[in-house]
Amino acid sequence: MSDRLKGKSALITGAARGIGRAFAEAYVGEGAVVAIGDINLEAAEKTAAEIGPSAYAVKLDVTDQASIDAAVKAVEAKAGGIDILVNNAALFDLAPIVEISRSSFDKLFAVNVAGTLFTLQAVARAMIARGRGGKIVNMASQAGRRGEALVAVYCATKAAVISLTQSAGLDLIKHGINVNAIAPGVVDGEHWDHVDALFAKYEDRPKGEKKRLVGEGVPFGRMGTAQDLVGMAIFLAGPESQYIVAQTYNVDGGNWMS
Ligand SMILES: NC(=O)c1ccc[n+]([C@@H]2O[C@H](COP(=O)([O-])OP(=O)(O)OC[C@H]3O[C@@H](n4cnc5c(N)ncnc54)[C@H](O)[C@@H]3O)[C@@H](O)[C@H]2O)c1
Repeated sequence: MSDRLKGKSALITGAARGIGRAFAEAYVGEGAVVAIGDINLEAAEKTAAEIGPSAYAVKLDVTDQASIDAAVKAVEAKAGGIDILVNNAALFDLAPIVEISRSSFDKLFAVNVAGTLFTLQAVARAMIARGRGGKIVNMASQAGRRGEALVAVYCATKAAVISLTQSAGLDLIKHGINVNAIAPGVVDGEHWDHVDALFAKYEDRPKGEKKRLVGEGVPFGRMGTAQDLVGMAIFLAGPESQYIVAQTYNVDGGNWMS
């Protein structure tokens, strides 16, 4: 714990649990005041209460423009502005190409891609109006680096996040806003419990086997934890990353090199 984000106001989407929650705890530990934005307000409130007085919950559905605008206003009213946005909310699904449904495609693109872009847009407008620059961190994935047989839609959404990070990063740096992304590998938690259950169904495996196999396949020797990503999340939100623009960093125990 130090004060690399002292006095900063952060909004983290999908922070009621998992990686977003770990980032919220870490940012508070670095001196920031953090809005836990989540579609699940009850869980966000519980998480904020557990983190302490520097965290507060904000109702946010990143697929709904009115909800995004209201959340940005709420954070500005509470904290005087937004210095840091982490676009972390996302959904996962899995199916063979011949079984992908339109509703699954639409849902994943609405949250992972449109949600990321239009939350980034609303926060960038607020940052530009305030004139103090800012830091935006998008959550990509190793899944955005190459396709996977059963994971076409999620992979495509995360490739889009990497591309949006590049375009937004190039467009917004003139306003002093750094846009970068983190591409995690396989991170244990409730998200991966869901992924494991889907693989069990489509690859006819016992529950837990996919998790074990992907963990063994990581060069570091195990699955990641949310805590493994925290250092990069603080770095990209803090003053030391000022000259870093439009990049996506792999934090994946060595799974991917690019
Ligand atoms: N866990 C992994 O292995 C892994 C790997 C690579 C990338 N990622 C990415 O990291 C990020 C966090 O992953 P996680 O494992 O913590 O996920 P998670 O599923 O545990 O948490 C996602 C959170 O987003 C919220 N959410 C869902 N839809 C929303 C919406 N429309 N508006 C606002 N909030 C919404 C959920 O309520 C939940 O709290 C995601 O972008 C994910 O794609 C995760």
